[in-house]
Amino acid sequence: MSLLPTLSIVCRFIICVCCGALNDHYGVPRNTILHPNDLKVFREDNIFNYTTMLLRDDLGVVLLGAREAIFALDINNISTRKSGVYWPVTEEKQRECTYKGKQAEVECRNYIRTLHIINDTTVYVCGTYAFSPICDYLTFANGQLLRTGKQEEGKGKCPFDPFQRYSSLMVGNDLYSATSINFLGSEPVILRSSGLVALRSDFKKIWLNEPNFVFMDIVSESLDSPDGDDDKVYLFFSENAVEYDFYTKVKVSRVARVCKGDMGGQRTLQRKWTSFLKARLDCSLPEPSLPLIVQDVFLMKHKDWRKSVFYGIFTPQSGLSQVSAVCAFSISDIRNIFNGGKFKTRVAVESSQDKWVMYTGEVPVPRPGACINDVARKMGVNESRQLPDKTLQFVRDRPLMDDAISPVTGRPLLLKTGPLLTRIVVDCVTALNQQKYHVMFIGTENGFIQKAVNYAGEMFIIEEIQVVESREPIGILRLSSSKGHLYAGSDSSVIQMPVSNCSRYKNCVDCVLSRDPYCAWDTTSEQCSSVQSLSISPKNTVQSLEEGDVSECPAQDPLEAVDFHLVPGNNLQLPCRLHSNLAQAHWKFSDQTLEANNKYYIYSEGLLILNASTSDGGLYTCDSVEQIGSRTFSRTMALYNVQLPPAPPAPPVVVISTPGTTVAKYSDHTHTHTHTHTQTRTLTTKAKELMPSPLFPENLTANSKVSSLKVSVALLSLLCLCLLGVIFWFWGRKHLKCLKFVQTFGEREGRKQSAEYIHGQNRTSETKLLEPKSGAVIANNNHSHVDFRVNGDNHLVNISALEGLGYIHDESEI
Ligand SMILES: *[C@@H]1O[C@H](CO)[C@@H](O)[C@H](O)[C@H]1NC(C)=O
Ligand SMILES: *[C@@H]1O[C@H](CO)[C@@H](O)[C@H](O)[C@H]1NC(C)=O
Ligand SMILES: *[C@@H]1O[C@H](CO)[C@@H](O)[C@H](O)[C@H]1NC(C)=O
Ligand SMILES: *[C@@H]1O[C@H](CO)[C@@H](O)[C@H](O)[C@H]1NC(C)=O
Ligand SMILES: *[C@@H]1O[C@H](CO)[C@@H](O)[C@H](O)[C@H]1NC(C)=O
Ligand SMILES: *[C@@H]1O[C@H](CO)[C@@H](O)[C@H](O)[C@H]1NC(C)=O
Ligand SMILES: *[C@@H]1O[C@H](CO)[C@@H](O)[C@H](O)[C@H]1NC(C)=O
Repeated sequence: MSLLPTLSIVCRFIICVCCGALNDHYGVPRNTILHPNDLKVFREDNIFNYTTMLLRDDLGVVLLGAREAIFALDINNISTRKSGVYWPVTEEKQRECTYKGKQAEVECRNYIRTLHIINDTTVYVCGTYAFSPICDYLTFANGQLLRTGKQEEGKGKCPFDPFQRYSSLMVGNDLYSATSINFLGSEPVILRSSGLVALRSDFKKIWLNEPNFVFMDIVSESLDSPDGDDDKVYLFFSENAVEYDFYTKVKVSRVARVCKGDMGGQRTLQRKWTSFLKARLDCSLPEPSLPLIVQDVFLMKHKDWRKSVFYGIFTPQSGLSQVSAVCAFSISDIRNIFNGGKFKTRVAVESSQDKWVMYTGEVPVPRPGACINDVARKMGVNESRQLPDKTLQFVRDRPLMDDAISPVTGRPLLLKTGPLLTRIVVDCVTALNQQKYHVMFIGTENGFIQKAVNYAGEMFIIEEIQVVESREPIGILRLSSSKGHLYAGSDSSVIQMPVSNCSRYKNCVDCVLSRDPYCAWDTTSEQCSSVQSLSISPKNTVQSLEEGDVSECPAQDPLEAVDFHLVPGNNLQLPCRLHSNLAQAHWKFSDQTLEANNKYYIYSEGLLILNASTSDGGLYTCDSVEQIGSRTFSRTMALYNVQLPPAPPAPPVVVISTPGTTVAKYSDHTHTHTHTHTQTRTLTTKAKELMPSPLFPENLTANSKVSSLKVSVALLSLLCLCLLGVIFWFWGRKHLKCLKFVQTFGEREGRKQSAEYIHGQNRTSETKLLEPKSGAVIANNNHSHVDFRVNGDNHLVNISALEGLGYIHDESEI
């Protein structure tokens, strides 16, 4: 091995371990499902960017907007295309667009960004149309999708730039949109286009300061309102802060709202919102960091709108951090701040920029930014055009609230390291005990969906499911709660998946420990079944969500020991696959606990005994030990009876001559292995599925060894710094391979990232290098058939890492 590649491997390993050690308390999904067979996929040749979606339960279709195409897909099976409409840009438009300096094949196309219901048969559609947005009407009748050709101006309703985030909402005949109104994308507006009075936001910086719009929805607050309040449209975005004194621009997350009945002002704020108020949204990590940035929001509606909750995904604003968070905000908390909170006001400071501080003076009546309610009506103000100038001027100059909005529980519901979270939907599930749980489905930037619940403060990720093979970002996520389906779109395809598939859990213990509110064990049919499909008779069903208590499960047959033959001097591998990423394997040899050392390697798929000798014969037990809430659950996964073979000796079971050299040789042996007659009946069936992919030993027990790990990490980091110095010195002189690795690695990561992200977050490829992504780390390695268990979370050490470690080990002995 030449020096530099080795050094780069070592450094990658150290980086991985650093992140693993620092973040071991953040969500690891209990289960990882890499290639689910219950997905339905839709994609069409030469069509990309499936990132706009409208579910029409009423018509039984999913309307899907992509680049230059709109499809109507069967809502029960999106692989079935019912109809499609193509809407390409004209050559002339494309030429115009390229003259203005945009790329013909990328930006000068028509990206469908808006699909809204108008009435039973009609849908409003807008596309970027080669940086010249236009809108049109689509009809869906007799299974046919048609574009009417009544084209309308799309400026302000749809972005010019296909990579720019934006949000819009149709309320009755009014289209609310938050986007840029110019070609350069530099003039943000919040617009209401309607027959009555079209309104927009003011261009003042205090209204919108380089915003990135994310989400919008309406809350019907006029329902049973004691003070005759109005419905409100809530908008979520991030923008540059005015409230921090900082040497550089800091972004913050915001929620803003406007009233549905707003008609603008008479003299002040004519044709502009008189009810635009905004406040900071806080969703903070336990450790100090720059404010997290909102990426997507879902409104969990409740019959009583006061109990509705906004779920938001937040990601770091600097590429240095890797932790995403989910926070929930109650509509009542948001309302209280807008309706009764203090405002911020500008004070001029001689030396530097203006400062924004709490306004302590008198607030005019009617309250600035309030909707027209009974208080205003009593004062003779029946609509916003009758509001006094004093109120209007106040809200024009001070739309920002002083208080920030804190999450419901005071802290995030979920923290997750690794690939960033991109989209969220939330389902409300009634469990067997009739309690309701909010299950979050969260898309990631590498094509996974995380299914998570917060059980009384405990963050729990039930499973992660890979839905996009190419590991692209999830660009859109939609839920049909009534059908129990989730729809996710990315650049290359769109998928449909069930909210749960309980049949994946084959026995009672697995079913209960999954702690999936959709699933319960039915003791009559002996199946893990969907709670909805069960005739509710809790007598014959087992579910224990908060405790994960399996004591109600019927007793299982004890495991039979499997015979294994050992050949002295060879290595012996005993498979033991755990059913949970959260579990650890505890091995026992004749009732003595085995510690990993230079004889025993304990790794994710089993135990490796190096240079076995006669004295290694005996009974081996593999226990899966898992922490569930506050209790520890242990169960035996495998039993092996290891003994010398009877004469004449059978072929060796598993042979690895020396670790570190013979992955390929090992694979050759696998074949013989599964067919040797040295195994008992149980093994031949079990071993095939249990046989691990040819991995090298790993330390599964990272958690328990964190402290010693941290010390070694510190030492290794120092070493790494020195080594890095050496690398760069070499590079400066010789352009060695290592930097090539750095480049390709960075590029690969860049490509994987959604363009939205790159724009929104300014993440650079250098910082990406620091991100622990096992996919990328391993992709540079010959042993690409390795199946790593947790997406992006390096709580298992991979092959190259161990090679690196081995290398240090040898060198340091010199
Ligand atoms: C659940 O998964 C099993 C296999 O894991 C599959 O055969 C079955 O069709 C899936 N069920 C649903 C409802 O998709
Ligand atoms: C559309 O998809 C293509 C192919 O994956 C991708 O290169 C491009 O960046 C996407 N465009 C947008 C606007 O997301
Ligand atoms: C879904 O539709 C596809 C394409 O029409 C078809 O091949 C497949 O069998 C359908 N799946 C189900 C479960 O109906
Ligand atoms: C739906 O809206 C379109 C466009 O506004 C209109 O032309 C059509 O008549 C409406 N259809 C129904 C059934 O209301
Ligand atoms: C407001 O409406 C009430 C009742 O609808 C009416 O009596 C009153 O004159 C109106 N006030 C103004 C200023 O228009
Ligand atoms: C694995 O565990 C053993 C024993 O605890 C320890 O000596 C070794 O350094 C660990 N290896 C790694 C890669 O952490
Ligand atoms: C294997 O073990 C035997 C004795 O148990 C020892 O003599 C031999 O040197 C060991 N081989 C290796 C490669 O460690």
